[in-house]
Amino acid sequence: MISQKYAKNVRSFPIEDIRQRIVGVSVKVPLLDGTRRPYVNFDNAATAPALWDVMETIDLFMPWYSSIHRGKGFKSEISSQAYDRAREIVGRFFGADPAEQVVIFGKNSTEAINKAARRIGLTRDDVVLVSLMEHHSNDLPWREQAQTVHIGLAADGSLDMADVARKFAEHAGRVRLLAISGASNVTGFINPIHELAALAHANQALILVDAAQLAPHRAIDMRPAADPGHLDFLVASGHKMYAPFGAGVLIGPRAIFAHGAPDYAGGGTVEIVTEDDVYWASPPDRDEAGSPNVIGAVAMAAACKALAEIGMERLAEHEARLTAHALRELGQIAGVELYGDADPARAGERLGVIPFNLRGVSHYLLAAILGAEYGIGVRNGCFCAHPYVLHLLDIPDPVAWSWRKQVVAGFRAHLPGLVRLSFGCYNTEEEIDWLAAALRKIARGEILGNYVQDPASGAFHETAFHPDWNGYFKI
Ligand SMILES: Cc1ncc(COP(=O)(O)O)c(C=O)c1O
Repeated sequence: MISQKYAKNVRSFPIEDIRQRIVGVSVKVPLLDGTRRPYVNFDNAATAPALWDVMETIDLFMPWYSSIHRGKGFKSEISSQAYDRAREIVGRFFGADPAEQVVIFGKNSTEAINKAARRIGLTRDDVVLVSLMEHHSNDLPWREQAQTVHIGLAADGSLDMADVARKFAEHAGRVRLLAISGASNVTGFINPIHELAALAHANQALILVDAAQLAPHRAIDMRPAADPGHLDFLVASGHKMYAPFGAGVLIGPRAIFAHGAPDYAGGGTVEIVTEDDVYWASPPDRDEAGSPNVIGAVAMAAACKALAEIGMERLAEHEARLTAHALRELGQIAGVELYGDADPARAGERLGVIPFNLRGVSHYLLAAILGAEYGIGVRNGCFCAHPYVLHLLDIPDPVAWSWRKQVVAGFRAHLPGLVRLSFGCYNTEEEIDWLAAALRKIARGEILGNYVQDPASGAFHETAFHPDWNGYFKI
């Protein structure tokens, strides 16, 4: 229920009105030609704007916000209950079983995966299978703890399912875990997580699903432990789920987190401490060191409630329409090269994350022009998935080596990369049309500005674009 204060921002629930639930959706930004227009945010895979539902929940909660768990004051009781309830709501949103699984709040998916990697009890002889499409956050933490083996990809960048089975067979008896993204942050490919889970379990391994991208776009059900396709671990980030208040979540088997020392020790993680001994608390406290981010957890729970109420199926349908429209429009523009699955007919089978390049225009420059001349926010580069982007661009090893040397020498001007569109539930076909019109002009060489590149970062800046930044926001 939205209060009067927010009613002007939130009208009703049909998908056409979803924009009204998004904070800042109609904010205008300055363009190089001196005009202003509503910002088009096509960078939702990096971080999503807040839902008004989340803002309102936080607003209502703030007067009651206080210390949690050990305080006995009235506000502490309310805050403790809110935090515990947030845990329940988030767990339920992902189909976790509270008897078997524990919901651990933390900062984001990266922190959650690092925690899992340190807490599962891996040894150097264990094998963790990850894929070549992973975000670095679901690759590097495993390398520190075990032998990491990469599953290969098909030419279009989708997961090579035959190679998953092959890697399990090659490392039979040693694979402790399959750590796989629910969906790619570069191509939007969705992995068959339950099929992969069944395969992992048949090989006496566990599965961790990095749902940083999948969670805001699809319903996820971890399923009961008796189901061979159940998910053992799941991670997600609040800021990608329209709740940018600094919380993320790790869900995993209670039994695993009931053993061993936590990765961070300190206040809140213990039952009792003597001068030379410590008795660790039960999960989840053992793994939530220090004062928790109560606001972040409440915000994430509010987002889960709002997304469930809107209906994940409706969001997915809307985003599939956007994706099909974008693939059709971009596919018709001379010079646009689409990567991953470019078939609009399959838009419903993947997320609205579309990587592309415009022939003859550096990805750095294209992103700068879209920002300065069209008010469109996109991301460019390698999206924290260097091996994956090299695969998509089909860059041979010797070339990759020469680029690596350039980066180490602090020179990024000619690094390969892509431009990425990533849709949220509130984007529209009109916004995609605006982008397509922009790309057509840029492809024809109609570029208004004069852009210079910073060789150290690779980023371009328009020399005459000096908006009054402080006039928009200042702290
Ligand atoms: C697939 C995937 N995994 C993990 C992460 C890391 O998420 P966070 O930055 O919230 O820790 C991201 C971020 O973009 C991602 O896309």
